[in-house]
Amino acid sequence: MLNDIKETPKVLETLLHNNQTEQKPPSADKIYIAASGSSRNAANIAKYFIEKTANVPVIVDFAGEFAHRGVAITKNDLFVPLSQSGETADVLAALKKAKSAGARTFAVTNNENSTIHKLSDAGMPVYAGEEKSIPSTKSFTCQLMCLYLLGLHLGNKYEPVLREVPEKISGFIETEDKTDGIAAEIKEYKNIILLGRGQNHALAEEGALKIKETSYINAASYPAGEFMHGHLAVLDSEFPVISILSRCFDDAENYGLAIKNTRDIRQKRNPRIIELLHSEENKIIAPFITAVMLQLLAYKTAMLLGRDVNRPRGLKKTVESE
Ligand code: AGP
Repeated sequence: MLNDIKETPKVLETLLHNNQTEQKPPSADKIYIAASGSSRNAANIAKYFIEKTANVPVIVDFAGEFAHRGVAITKNDLFVPLSQSGETADVLAALKKAKSAGARTFAVTNNENSTIHKLSDAGMPVYAGEEKSIPSTKSFTCQLMCLYLLGLHLGNKYEPVLREVPEKISGFIETEDKTDGIAAEIKEYKNIILLGRGQNHALAEEGALKIKETSYINAASYPAGEFMHGHLAVLDSEFPVISILSRCFDDAENYGLAIKNTRDIRQKRNPRIIELLHSEENKIIAPFITAVMLQLLAYKTAMLLGRDVNRPRGLKKTVESE
């Protein structure tokens, strides 16, 4: 898992280089992204960027739910099946549903020979290379980058700062020991809450999934504002909260609210609060760094607990049945 994480800058470079010649997605009234697990979390982070850049609504759904409910998708919409493996059964079922509704389909996968990629009208490979560990890390970051590029294509825009992401991640990984103290602390707990607002909430979801998957600690995530509506009653001084406060914000007011929510939680329930942030202030780059930071935190915590991070119990790399 650590090797996979360390390969992230290199595979992102390849992705950014190759993408210049790739197929472009068609414009659409709405974009539906159906995905599972970490892939869905990548979509939820990218949704903020795509909506702003391309000015088009983005609806992210659990693939397994999309496949079996009445969805108001039309031929004017773009459906994006997002799947690292390209073989996830829930995503495939969602793709078939979107196709039967006449939507245009544009796959984002890590395997151009996969069923999902081949069944879609067009697509974009994520160029993550082989991912050895079951928890997705570099493929997650590459999916995120692909979705950002998709947003730029749809909005007919160019964002040079994305080219800096591989080097920034590289620099961050060199200081990876920064998460050691937090890992040593959270390994002592059976439960943990992760909070964030905006993209930091979607990142909290991914952090919670990575921690559960690798450490088996019961990690749950909420939007920091929503957490005030009943959920916080579970907290006491033995129940830690990770508040993600990295600068992924377009909206300064929302950032202020994240800080206020954290302060309010401290006043009301006095849990152990760990504020998670890093020094990257560019709001386009910050989510990428935060994602890698959470991957490293999950990895380190699991290693301290003696877990098999590459082959977590009960999990398979690809879930091939619904
Ligand atoms: C991520 O760490 C997990 N292994 C899992 O949630 C995974 O992202 C999910 O099963 C979806 O897989 P896919 O991207 O291959 O469709």
